[in-house]
Amino acid sequence: MTAPILRDLSALRSATRPWIRAGETIGVVPTMGALHDGHLSLVAAAKARCDRVIVTIFVNPRQFNNPEDLKNYPRTEQEDARKLERYAVDALWVPDGDQMYPPHFATTVSVAGLTDVMEGAHRKGHFDGVATVVTKLFTQTGATDAFFGEKDFQQLMVVRRMACDLDIPVTVHGCPTIREIDGLAMSSRNLLLSDRARTRAPVLHETMERVAEGLRDGRPFDALKAEAIARLTRAGFTGVDYLDLRAQDDLLSLNAPTRPARLFAAAWLAGVRLIDNIAIET
Ligand code: PAF
Repeated sequence: MTAPILRDLSALRSATRPWIRAGETIGVVPTMGALHDGHLSLVAAAKARCDRVIVTIFVNPRQFNNPEDLKNYPRTEQEDARKLERYAVDALWVPDGDQMYPPHFATTVSVAGLTDVMEGAHRKGHFDGVATVVTKLFTQTGATDAFFGEKDFQQLMVVRRMACDLDIPVTVHGCPTIREIDGLAMSSRNLLLSDRARTRAPVLHETMERVAEGLRDGRPFDALKAEAIARLTRAGFTGVDYLDLRAQDDLLSLNAPTRPARLFAAAWLAGVRLIDNIAIET
């Protein structure tokens, strides 16, 4: 079933008004399009839990710190709509830039603390852009539930903090990372990898699993990190923005998994920045 593609706020409000009046739950899956099985798993989770499901597609210029990255970001709207057909979602919310940010737009939502590290440190302004657009998506759609992938674990934490701090009555659900058969975390950016880079990309996840194994064996994180960076470099990665062991609840840096932890990485391969994270069992 083809869902209606709504492009202006009055059409979105007309669609959601009767649902809200009837007390129905509205599950929202925010995306920037170029949908893959990771996104579709979020849609399936939303369908399983909510009376109504809205998928949003908006390539949000405010969260890109690099104009080239914004320009190259894959845009595949027709294909996205086709992939969603079998999920029978209730609406696609596909606003254009002026709908989201009219000329007088002057508000930024900024989450402190959690955004100081990792993606926040390496992509200045990124999380302000994410928090601002997600706040708008929540209020525009009247979401009661929202579904985010753990692949962007820091983003998930930032969105939870923002919704809680601003008293937005939405339950934010984190859903497991979906991986290709060779372990590469699914991401719209994988479409930008050349065939040659694509064959090397799974080394990121393999390397992180090795670090996890070393931690389980009680080896010091610093030594494991140095070995991991050397391994990534040998595999053709041209830079590692970070490879961090951090506490799962507050993202504080750890030297050993003394409390529930995750290993986070961002690394460059043939001009494409890949990110991933895995839980570390203690
Ligand atoms: O994860 C993404 O695709 C984006 O950051 C999001 C949440 C849709 C906000 O633009």
